[in-house]
Amino acid sequence: MLVDLELKLKMLCVIFLPIALVAGGSKLCPHQCSCYGASELVDCRSRGFTHIPHSVPHGTWLLDLSGNKLSELRSTSFTGIWVLRVLLLSQSNMQVVHSQALSSLTFLEKLDLAYNELRVLPPDFSQGLTSLKHLKLSHNALERLESHSLEDLQSLERLDLSHNHIQVIEVGLFRGLTMLTHLNLAWNQLTVLQGGLLTMQQGLGVLLLGHNNISKIEVEALAPLQTLTILNLEANQLRSLKFKVFLNLKTPSTHLQMSENPWTCDCDLHRVFSKILRVRHLHVDDYVNITCHSPLLLAGASLGLMHSQLCVAETATVLIITGTVMVTVVAAMVMAERKRKKKKMNLEKQGNDPMPWESYK
Ligand SMILES: *[C@@H]1O[C@H](CO)[C@@H](O)[C@H](O)[C@H]1NC(C)=O
Ligand SMILES: *[C@@H]1O[C@H](CO)[C@@H](O)[C@H](O)[C@H]1NC(C)=O
Repeated sequence: MLVDLELKLKMLCVIFLPIALVAGGSKLCPHQCSCYGASELVDCRSRGFTHIPHSVPHGTWLLDLSGNKLSELRSTSFTGIWVLRVLLLSQSNMQVVHSQALSSLTFLEKLDLAYNELRVLPPDFSQGLTSLKHLKLSHNALERLESHSLEDLQSLERLDLSHNHIQVIEVGLFRGLTMLTHLNLAWNQLTVLQGGLLTMQQGLGVLLLGHNNISKIEVEALAPLQTLTILNLEANQLRSLKFKVFLNLKTPSTHLQMSENPWTCDCDLHRVFSKILRVRHLHVDDYVNITCHSPLLLAGASLGLMHSQLCVAETATVLIITGTVMVTVVAAMVMAERKRKKKKMNLEKQGNDPMPWESYK
């Protein structure tokens, strides 16, 4: 019911607003900006604005305010610009987005907030942004993302959070983002990829996690992803891998990128990579560039070239253990045999002597 009403209201807006504009013959354009197509495209790039200009025409479809000095988005910043589809606010010295700042923009499809100074997002940041498909928040100073701050982005397909300082993502942050196809979290400070983080992202195709501090991937972390084609994990803190993580990845074809990690080259790692390479739908794109960090003796060596030798020590150990066990068993058998013979000889010897009671006969 409520959704129906909302839809009708939206349609009314779409139908009547342009008519109202035409009827009013509106050719308004904010001072210093350039307007095109009967003010549908408003270009206010790099004009030194310190606040959102007031006289943006109601029918504006695209508003470009990038390169200004806005510093904050207040709760009333965009009231009246109902039909806005694209809002560009990059490089605008933005430090704070206040609660309800964007909630009136229910038609917005693209929002660019890249290259600003945002440290946090308000908990209701996503409220009203139900049509948003593309959100750019890269090159900010975000440290922590609260689990509710993106929950209303039900149409979002591309999310760029790269080049921030994100250390912790609360499980549940991406719960509402069921349409997501591209997620860029590269160049942050994540340390772990939690299971449960991507449970609703069955359609995710590209997951970029390069240049973080990830040392651990929980076994269930990738399990929900059914269409993943690219998983970038390069330049993290991975030393070892669990094959089970990748076994859980039920996709037609996934390309993995994992070089520039401090790999510990041992027989375990060799086995995990050989198994991954044998799975038909998994491809390690940069396998030639996967190099050992430890042990010291192998530092800088390519894992691919080391490959079979890594298990030599292990094989030798196994041989030594097997050998030892065999020698012990044989020795035990020999001893047992000797004992048996000795016993038998004793018995025979006793048999030749007269039994002690026989002498009393
Ligand atoms: C990333 O991890 C390394 C090694 O574990 C650590 O020295 C460094 O401080 C971490 N960096 C951040 C920003 O957390
Ligand atoms: C391997 O590293 C070199 C040097 O950084 C680079 O030029 C090359 O493209 C990399 N190859 C792959 C397959 O990633």
